[in-house]
Amino acid sequence: MESFSDDILQGLRSTPKYLPPKYFYDEAGDRLFQQIMHSPEYYLTRCEYEIFSRKAPEIADLLQVNLSDFDLVELGAGNCYKSRFLLAELVRRRFPFTFYPVDISSNVIRQLNQTLPVEIPGLQLHGLNGEYLRMLERAQALSDRPKVVLFLGANIGNLPKDKTGEFLQKIHSVLNPGDLVCIGFDLKKDPDVILAAYNDAAGLTREFNLNLLRRINRELDADFDLAGFKHFPVYDPVNGACRSYLISLRQQQVHLKSSGEHIAFEPFEPVFMEVSQKYATEEIPMMAQSNGFQSLTIFYDDRNWFGDAVWRVEK
Ligand code: AVI
Repeated sequence: MESFSDDILQGLRSTPKYLPPKYFYDEAGDRLFQQIMHSPEYYLTRCEYEIFSRKAPEIADLLQVNLSDFDLVELGAGNCYKSRFLLAELVRRRFPFTFYPVDISSNVIRQLNQTLPVEIPGLQLHGLNGEYLRMLERAQALSDRPKVVLFLGANIGNLPKDKTGEFLQKIHSVLNPGDLVCIGFDLKKDPDVILAAYNDAAGLTREFNLNLLRRINRELDADFDLAGFKHFPVYDPVNGACRSYLISLRQQQVHLKSSGEHIAFEPFEPVFMEVSQKYATEEIPMMAQSNGFQSLTIFYDDRNWFGDAVWRVEK
């Protein structure tokens, strides 16, 4: 059983210090992330929206050529902002399938159960609230059909590079030969464009990072002074890692009253918050192959800034 308190303390006791980015998403964090996605600098969502809104028929063709029968599972479905184009296209074709959106937020699943079948009449939907892999197993138990798994939004980029293989192999182990996955990858591009997406002029990403300190203050009765930290993203064009840090602006101590712990910060000491990995196009088929998949194709936006890769589970 994961514990917010244990995870936060483990990160703050480490050298160098870090905080787990999965905890960004409390209510305020969800709201800030929505605002980030609509900010002028954050191109990722718009690129993937372009792919799905323009290429849904092509994507549906590829899925149907490879599988005559399937159910669709979306990991981290959110509001299905992009996937709904594919869902609508399959319904329009009268393709018989059930859509299993998976999300860690029960609120999101409740909303989808209520709204999506109204917005896409004829859609068969069965929302699954919980952790990705466990819910993928649940979908396997609920349906005998082959599966197409969507993992969009460049969420894969938030896994540390050495954990990506492990995650893909776990997905592979739950699926059957011939099943398909469609994964959204943010691609290497002008480093200034990438860095700006994580350093928007309105300060939304800064707030998004600082909000985790606010959450720690609230939930662990701590006394982080948010003015004592600055948001500092860096992008390495060689390895494609965009990493965000909070930098302590002075020597300071933070007291976490819930555990009685005092954490000391040196002047300019960094706290690592999140990696958003960017990929070279050539890396994607290699990643497929080294984790038991065959790369079928990659769908791109017009500028080739983002790619949705379709892979097949190898026999
Ligand atoms: C959710 N994930 C793909 C976002 C990203 O681009 O890495 C999270 C994010 N962090 C700061 N801005 C957006």
